[in-house]
This record gives sequence, structure tokens and C-alpha cells, in this order.
Amino acid sequence: MKTLVTGATGELGSNLVAELLRAGHDVVPLTRSALAAPLTEPMDDIRAVLHLAGKKYDARAPAEAFVSANVEATGRLLSLLERRASAVTPHLVFFSTMFVYGERSEAPLTEDFPPSPRSQYGRSKREAERLVTDVCARKGIPFTILRLATVYGTGGNDVFQRLSVAYRHVFPFVLGDGDQRRSFLAMDNLSTVVLSALGNPRWYGVTINVADPQVYRMIDVARHLAGNRRVRHIPARWARGVCALRPVLGAVVPGYRTMCDHLERLGESFSLDTARLRSMHVGPLPCLPIGRG
Ligand SMILES: NC(=O)c1ccc[n+]([C@@H]2O[C@H](COP(=O)([O-])OP(=O)(O)OC[C@H]3O[C@@H](n4cnc5c(N)ncnc54)[C@H](OP(=O)(O)O)[C@@H]3O)[C@@H](O)[C@H]2O)c1
Repeated sequence: MKTLVTGATGELGSNLVAELLRAGHDVVPLTRSALAAPLTEPMDDIRAVLHLAGKKYDARAPAEAFVSANVEATGRLLSLLERRASAVTPHLVFFSTMFVYGERSEAPLTEDFPPSPRSQYGRSKREAERLVTDVCARKGIPFTILRLATVYGTGGNDVFQRLSVAYRHVFPFVLGDGDQRRSFLAMDNLSTVVLSALGNPRWYGVTINVADPQVYRMIDVARHLAGNRRVRHIPARWARGVCALRPVLGAVVPGYRTMCDHLERLGESFSLDTARLRSMHVGPLPCLPIGRG
């Protein structure tokens, strides 16, 4: 199947392109400069489009950076799909995020939970979701929206890699009892899902949470990443104290805002309900070999 991929140079894109090629797809990468208007790529025999290009969560980036990369670039891609000359309409798969729901929740969230994004990132992705849904519905373009949990196992600078580095520089830790429940997504599981979804009418018009089937406890994740080292429990009020200094220290200490951002997230539960994903029968999606949450 001839598949156009935006964001092919990114962490997820590079892994997915490798998997697509292994599965026999003919991959056409659409580069950043090509997505920066005007788009003139020939779309004639493209059967599927993976739209990964975008700006990921970044506490320091201005709102305009998210609007430009996540909303406007999506609009340009949709215009290209609308203008295609071919009789065959490609299946568009849009890579969204669990952060469209917000940033915390005690119970796993289903796709029916009303989105209430708190970050600029989440807001821009939600806006892009709306754009995809509206244009595709109007123009008869088959689409799927994947709301991904944070991905690990990309072989790059992913969330577990960053946590491991933090543990090496400080020590392995969790906030409080570490009983916060969070969803994560193995890169391999994402590849399985994407290969199953591409060009498959069962997935058309569907918005779907994509995460490992198991919700993890942060203490189990920390022990997994810490190896033999002891995981320490930092009182949550200490973290709150550190973050309370953000308005002052954030302006002068490099990386302070980002650190606070990560600390605040570590202290919250936030997970996805994956019943809809399981109902799509994509095959086995293994979990980390750690305590069941
Ligand atoms: N990684 C995760 O855990 C995660 C979780 C949920 C959702 N997602 C979503 O999945 C997608 C891919 O994530 P990733 O981790 O692979 O991100 P990434 O490593 O930051 O890669 C982003 C890709 O998008 C391209 N890009 C960035 N800004 C662009 C712009 N303004 N116009 C056109 N292209 C632009 C980049 O091109 P250059 O190489 O030229 O910079 C790169 O190819 C993103 O949309 C992200 O929001 C990721």
C-alpha cells in the first residue's frame, strides 16, 4: 500500500516508517518544508496518510508554535487531500494525544469523556481533531483519530529514557506512595495498531484511545527503570514547594519550569480506558513485565 507519512523524521515517524517498509508498504515521506505551504505533492495513488507532523508538549513554547505546527499544518494537509485528483480517497490517520482530555483523572478515561485540554499542546491537538473530523466528514475522506498515551521504547529520547536520565542524575524516586496510575504506550504496540488500522474500514470515522492494555502504577514504573537501585519516596509537599518557586526561579534557572512540569505530572494519575481498542481485535499488545495496576 502506498502510504504518505508526515513527521517521518520524528521519534514515532521514524519507527513507524521502518515498520511500514518491513510490512511491504511503499512509503512517501512528506517533509516539513513540503508541509509549509504550498503543498503540491502528487496524491494520485496514495492509499493512506499517517499525519504525525506536529509540535509535542513543551512547557516553554509559545501558543503560536502549537497552533502553527498542529492546527495550521493539519489544515494544509487536509487541503491537499481535498484537492487530490485521484478517484481513490486515502485513509487519513491523525495522531492525537491523551492530553486532549486534560492532565489528570483518577479513573481511566473513555473516548466519550468530554475533552478539556489544559495545555497549549492539548488545546492545539483538540483543535486539529475538530478540523480533521469536520473536513473529512464534509469531503467523504475516511479518517481515524488515535489518542495516544505517552510513548516509550522508541529508541530515542522518549519518556522512559528521560526518567532514567533523571534517576541517574538524582536518584530513583516517586512522589508520595507512588500509587499514581498512568497510561503509557509501547512503540511496538503503536506499530501493531497502525498496521492493523491502515486502510481498514472498521477503523473509519473512529476516535480511539491507544495505550498499553495495563494501567501502570508509578512505583512499578520507577522500580522497573531503576533496576537494582532503591526507589525513594519524596513527599508530595516537597515537590509542591519546589514548584511554588517556579515564578521566581523559572525565569533565571534553565530547565526549572520543565522540571516543575514533570514533577507535577508525576504526582497525578492520568490513564486511558482501552476497551474500544480491544474491541478492534488488533492482536496481542504486550505490557511491561511489572506489577498489575
Ligand atoms: N511521542 C509521544 O509520546 C506522543 C504521544 C502522543 C501523541 N504524539 C504525537 O505524535 C506525533 C509524532 O510525535 P513524535 O514523538 O514523533 O514527535 P517528534 O519526534 O517531535 O517529531 C515531530 C515531527 O514533526 C515534524 N514537525 C514539527 N513541527 C513541524 C511543523 N511546524 N511543520 C511540519 N512538520 C513539523 C518534525 O520535522 P523535523 O524533523 O523537520 O523537525 C518531525 O518529523 C506528534 O504529532 C505528537 O503530538 C506523540
